[in-house]
Amino acid sequence: MRWCRKLRRKIPLDPPFIKGKPTADHGCFLFNIVEKLLSLQSEIQQRTHYQRIGGEPVLRELVHRFYAIMDELPEAYGIRRMHAASLDEMEQKFFEFLSGWTGGPQLYVEHYGHPRLRMRHLPFSIGRGERDQWMLCMNQALNEVVQDEALRRELSGAFAKVAEHMRNRAENIIPLPLAN
Ligand code: HEM
Repeated sequence: MRWCRKLRRKIPLDPPFIKGKPTADHGCFLFNIVEKLLSLQSEIQQRTHYQRIGGEPVLRELVHRFYAIMDELPEAYGIRRMHAASLDEMEQKFFEFLSGWTGGPQLYVEHYGHPRLRMRHLPFSIGRGERDQWMLCMNQALNEVVQDEALRRELSGAFAKVAEHMRNRAENIIPLPLAN
């Protein structure tokens, strides 16, 4: 056992230190483990969502499943009918948007300029119901395609914020009863 000044407690010796080959650091076994875990955590945090999800192939799969689910789910009919009969063009556009949005190549911006998402959604009446239908499809697609649970939760939270921002229909206006 050896006294570690950083952890302020007795700790086992670092194995290389025992062998008489002190490492470049201070030879504290526990402290080295903590340090490595912290650097691993910051490495993960520095990787973009694009890298963490698995790049283009997985992002394409996510988008493909998202629109297939929207096409199939009776609960999503309200938003499906807002879209064109064929979803192929939208699938490519949404993939390009997500590529940049997740920190990968800015394909959408290169082809169409600034997304101005809210403005582009104004022609469609979007309230809580439409937002929830959209999230239902996206959460189901995320569950199917993204294996990493932490990443899935982060993406779902980020999508939910954008979906909420797309709401453009006044709601919760309860008319006051008027006298006859
Ligand atoms: C909240 C519910 C939402 C509804 C009901 C909705 C609906 C729509 C519709 C009807 C279109 C046009 C489709 C077409 O041209 O055939 C569209 C386009 C698009 N949506 Fe959404 N959307 C929603 C949320 C979102 C969110 C959260 C995102 C991004 C995370 C998004 C990204 C896009 C993109 C990139 C386009 C293509 C814009 C363009 O260049 O024309 N949408 N959406």
